[in-house]
Amino acid sequence: MSCDRTFYVTTPIYYVNDVPHIGHAYTTIAADTLALHHRMAGEKVLFCTGTDEHGQKIQSTAQAKGMTAQELADRTVENFRRLWEVLHITHDDFIRTTEPRHEKVVQTIFTRLMEKGDIYKGTYEGLYCVPCETYVPESQMGEGKTCPDCKRPLQPMTEESYFFRISRYQEPLLRYYEENPDAIQPRSRYNEVVSFIRSGLNDQSVSRTTLKWGIPVPGDERHVVYVWFDALINYLTVAGYPDDEERLRTFWPAVRHLVGKDIIRFHCVVWPAMLLALGLNPPRQVFAHGWWTVEGEKMSKSKGNVVDPFEMVDLYGVDAFRYFLLREVAFGNDGDFSELALVQRVNSDLANDLGNLLNRTLQMVERFQGGQVLPGGAADPLDEELLDAAEVTRKAYSDAMERMAFDEALKALWALIGRGNKYIDATMPWKLGKEGQTERLASVLSVLCTVLRQAALLVSPVMPATARTMWRQLGLAGTPEDAGFAAAEKPFPAGVTVAKGEVLFPRIDVESWKEAKAARERDRNLDPDPGEHEEEIAIDDFRKVELRVGRIVAAEAVPKADKLFKIDVDLGYERRTIVSGIREYYKAEELVGKTIIVVCNLKPVKLRGVESRGMLLAAESCRDDSLALLTLDGAMALGSRIH
Ligand code: MSP
Repeated sequence: MSCDRTFYVTTPIYYVNDVPHIGHAYTTIAADTLALHHRMAGEKVLFCTGTDEHGQKIQSTAQAKGMTAQELADRTVENFRRLWEVLHITHDDFIRTTEPRHEKVVQTIFTRLMEKGDIYKGTYEGLYCVPCETYVPESQMGEGKTCPDCKRPLQPMTEESYFFRISRYQEPLLRYYEENPDAIQPRSRYNEVVSFIRSGLNDQSVSRTTLKWGIPVPGDERHVVYVWFDALINYLTVAGYPDDEERLRTFWPAVRHLVGKDIIRFHCVVWPAMLLALGLNPPRQVFAHGWWTVEGEKMSKSKGNVVDPFEMVDLYGVDAFRYFLLREVAFGNDGDFSELALVQRVNSDLANDLGNLLNRTLQMVERFQGGQVLPGGAADPLDEELLDAAEVTRKAYSDAMERMAFDEALKALWALIGRGNKYIDATMPWKLGKEGQTERLASVLSVLCTVLRQAALLVSPVMPATARTMWRQLGLAGTPEDAGFAAAEKPFPAGVTVAKGEVLFPRIDVESWKEAKAARERDRNLDPDPGEHEEEIAIDDFRKVELRVGRIVAAEAVPKADKLFKIDVDLGYERRTIVSGIREYYKAEELVGKTIIVVCNLKPVKLRGVESRGMLLAAESCRDDSLALLTLDGAMALGSRIH
């Protein structure tokens, strides 16, 4: 397929039941980089992201937080918008599935497919995963009837439902993929999808009667449209379907969907089938990227290891974060996020390689040529070699970008930067300066500025702010984005005055960084912000915990357990035994007589052979190792309830 002059790139639209994390940031940064790259190549670009706001998951989260789904969506969408601002994302459109423009398109499509007989009414019986909003066929269930993705138990469900006759599109889809082997990337995903389609497609349920939070099915308002059917259509809403025919012709099907590997079936099976049913072409390409783990572990709220992109930008700057995500792993592979690895990349790639090349060059232009870049004389073989390498790099970089191989594109560019630094070592411009070889010096510095200008251009889609700073320091007018890649082919304008400014990336001292990181972790534990760090609970959840006033009447060590006390507590209406791990902090005699707070309705457990019926409340400091039992301020009848 020839390279079209239009380029439409999308991210998945993100659920609004969660705070934005590194996974969301990753796809959006990748899409932004592609959008910037294609704009700089002179193409007409449409880049869209947005939020997926309907469905069971959103409704349940909202309920648990004591708000309406719309309120939850309105609140969370702001976090996403703010993150895209902080990450310098340049989307042309931001779509929310609750917007009327989108609801209208979904209803139009639903009606069209009903009229064609591609949507029909039936009954659905099956096992459903609520968190993933999907029925799971028997062949894919995990052990004990669990969801293959999230491993949670499945719920039996029967409902009247509308079905999308996807079975009709099995053969056309296979044909499409046969004719367009690049339509799914990486190749391994292509094979996975094709063999899934070959195994047979069952008609898909596309409506729900079990919830209200969705787009009503036209003409049958007991049903709402299934959230995935609704969400996928966002890509067409943004492209102007069905009314804006010109916009649609411009951007469809010149579209690349960037998605995580977990949502590939929706994008590579359901979505193209819906498009074929509508008489439209499937997307030009779906690229499935891998998942990030964090310091070797799966990222999860309960582990408390979710990487907060806002924090990363605060700590390391937006461009270092963008660079790291795209350089560290091949798009398409899984990767591990480690802050230390990020710091090392800042120091080696950004401060050392890129920063030094710029700094050394500008310093010499200032020192020996009063800040002016002068026209070079006859080229030396060393100059030619470097300029040829620059040209080869442009090609390698652009080929890699076309394949979304961001890491390869950056590697190619950094190889050139490395050559630039070696060229300085070989030509020794400081020596030329001291020896008064002004003509040769002018050539060397002009070659270096040419390479640096190209570096600024090529680095721009990944690190737009850094590229602009380089541009300014090189004394160039405008911005690299406006200049476009074509500018790399022109000779460096002689006579410009450079403006060496702040260092691009200051080196991070690893030892002090380690100390600061440890302090950060301590503070996080010390001062957890409940809104950010813990899952919020509703008042009813809290009420489930039965807290009462008790008095310790006896305490003795549990044999062969260094940390445990067996404590007898009087609750007024009964006495019970609680085993508690506080022996490091209290002597038995200090405990007796204390009026404390007891969690009374915990399931009993046996600890070292002693049955423990309840729990004492204590505060534990993270700054040092201290611990204190919660006691009562004033006399209260034993057994009093605590609210
Ligand atoms: N709303 C759907 C998408 C509908 S698109 C028509 C959805 N939303 S999501 O918010 O749950 O996920 C969005 C994306 O984040 C997915 O592409 C998913 O792969 C990605 N990631 C979630 N965790 C991730 C990592 N740990 N690493 C990389 N990407 C991850 O799915």
